[in-house]
Amino acid sequence: MRHSATAFAPATVGNVGIGFDILGHTVEAIGDKVRVERTSTRGVRITAITGSDAELPLESAKNTAGQALLSMLADEHAEFGLDVSIEKGIPLGSGLGGSAASAVAAVVAANAVFAKPLSQLQLLQYAMKGEQVASGSVHVDNIAPSLFGGMVLTVGIDHPRTKQIPVPPGIKCVLVHPHMFLSTKEARRILSKTVQLSDLVWQCANLAGFISACYTNDLDMIRDAFEDVVVEPQRQALIPGFRDVKAAAVAGGALGCSISGAGPTVFAWCLSADAPRIRDGMVDAFAAHKLGCDQWISSIEPMGARVID
Ligand code: HSE
Repeated sequence: MRHSATAFAPATVGNVGIGFDILGHTVEAIGDKVRVERTSTRGVRITAITGSDAELPLESAKNTAGQALLSMLADEHAEFGLDVSIEKGIPLGSGLGGSAASAVAAVVAANAVFAKPLSQLQLLQYAMKGEQVASGSVHVDNIAPSLFGGMVLTVGIDHPRTKQIPVPPGIKCVLVHPHMFLSTKEARRILSKTVQLSDLVWQCANLAGFISACYTNDLDMIRDAFEDVVVEPQRQALIPGFRDVKAAAVAGGALGCSISGAGPTVFAWCLSADAPRIRDGMVDAFAAHKLGCDQWISSIEPMGARVID
């Protein structure tokens, strides 16, 4: 049995536009790392958080990784404690699933120092408890892909069932993160609690069409179905220049473009050859609104969190 372990968990695009709170995919280019070390003192002690300019809570119960581990140790009646250090690779408040990745990396690392490792489903549920601290609600669209890899659909909260959805070959994801902070709690608070029946029908058709098109490599169907008619229209005002950025992506040949998670990162699916042109168009559109950006072109690998040391 190991005494210490470090795990990496990839960033994620939550919602993928049409699958609010239930669909997400990995961004292999970036992620968070968490190191845990067994201690004889019970409890969880966060000893360091690096890689983030913003202040993140060192108090375990208020930290996504810390809370996930507190739940895991308590429910599994662990007779040891954990010292934890977190290395943030995902910008805070970016909509790239940073809180989920820290929680996922924490439970994957901790699992390596348990005498009897837990199942992936148990890890998912403990990571969900961590994510709740950050966003104020339980949702799995970042946690599940970060843990399992690739694009993942999750059905259910109390007894979640996950399914990896195939991503057609040659698809890349362009991500443009404007330099501003958007709170997930705030981006959820502004959402209407009710949906028009006609929008529900449209959204269901788009999600079903998108998923079936992924199974059949039907890029035309992906393009037609890639439209969130419920959440994006409400959130776009939180991101200066969003409409121009989306228009630039579509003009560059993107299959679809929307807000990554709660934003402000905007993502676009496209074919490999179009990715640099689309990225440049999106970056220029943000620049016209006086926003500098980080940007990535990422593949969507079916590889989730793993122990790296
Ligand atoms: N599905 C979530 C949302 C992701 O859009 O609010 C945020 O982490």
